[in-house]
Amino acid sequence: MNIIVLAGGISTEREVSIVTGKNVCRALRQKGHDAAILDVYFGTACPENIFTENYSLEEALKEIEKNSQKVEEEKKTRKVFFGEHVIALCQKADIVFMALHGENGENGKVQAAFDLFGISYTGTGYLGSALAMDKGLSKHLFEANGIPTPKGITLKAHERGEKSTGITFPCVVKPSCGGSSIGVSIVENPGELERALEESFALEDEVVVEQYIRGREFSVAVVQGEAYPVIEIVPKAGFYDYKNKYQAGATDEYCPADIPDEATKRMQACAVKVSEVLLLDKYSRMDFLMDENENIYCLEANTLPGMTPTSLIPQEAAVLGMDYGTLCEKLIEVSNE
Ligand SMILES: Nc1ncnc2c1ncn2[C@@H]1O[C@H](COP(=O)(O)OP(=O)(O)O)[C@@H](O)[C@H]1O
Ligand SMILES: [Mg+2]
Repeated sequence: MNIIVLAGGISTEREVSIVTGKNVCRALRQKGHDAAILDVYFGTACPENIFTENYSLEEALKEIEKNSQKVEEEKKTRKVFFGEHVIALCQKADIVFMALHGENGENGKVQAAFDLFGISYTGTGYLGSALAMDKGLSKHLFEANGIPTPKGITLKAHERGEKSTGITFPCVVKPSCGGSSIGVSIVENPGELERALEESFALEDEVVVEQYIRGREFSVAVVQGEAYPVIEIVPKAGFYDYKNKYQAGATDEYCPADIPDEATKRMQACAVKVSEVLLLDKYSRMDFLMDENENIYCLEANTLPGMTPTSLIPQEAAVLGMDYGTLCEKLIEVSNE
């Protein structure tokens, strides 16, 4: 297949997206596909090489890296999100593998545009992406559908100081549409709450304040309605923040998770239900906490979860006997149906 692996962008997760894109592209090329990585924001200076023998992944990665330094400067003057040739190249591909994370890419806007341009892409459509991206909205939908989630509220910047959170300490503050734990704080008292709100509102106009759940952390992928094995996440120190997510060796992960069968089934059933409620029909990954009484709480759904070989979904797939390259192909296959 001719595949564009779309990565980069201007979100806080640009770098993570490039790592996902690089690995997916390499794996798909090893599987014999004509796969090319493309920076959604900068496009490429050599569009004519894509899907030809002249294409070099290493050269493309160098170009992307160089462009990373120009993001802030470029943002000052650019109005159009898509880089030069990006739409035309995506239209030429059989499918676009979405290796984007955060903001545009994960919030459904790129998906909506692609629908109108007649471009096929992997993963969730625009509406499911938008719902899952917004943690406040997701929480309302969880509550309305009997999906357990920490008690919490959404706070807009202009409501700050007026609206009581009604949440007791400790609690968690997070930007409503963030990712990679950026801007997430666990707070113990009113002073810390103020500082955490400050930090979150600097990133976004809407934040979620929710009850802190003390317990163990898990994640479950759902691919076309089928839950994958549960993975447990155990950071060596602190919570699953940015550093613990991406620094090698900072977090231990166990798959399948060492929990009773009944709890595994409950979490998997809950993940499938979340995928139905939020319209995530292709693939997604749900984050969970479990307290000491084995009550589970769904934190959020991720529509474009990390896809490096050591990311959570590839580890879950490995337990099912599926290697990384095969998983990349599987995600394309389910998206094409
Ligand atoms: N209510 C909570 N109680 C305890 N820890 C939490 C809670 N909410 C978030 N966390 C911690 O913060 C991390 C990031 O939160 P999450 O809601 O998954 O947002 P993100 O989109 O940044 O991954 C979680 O993986 C977990 O470690
Ligand atoms: Mg998460």
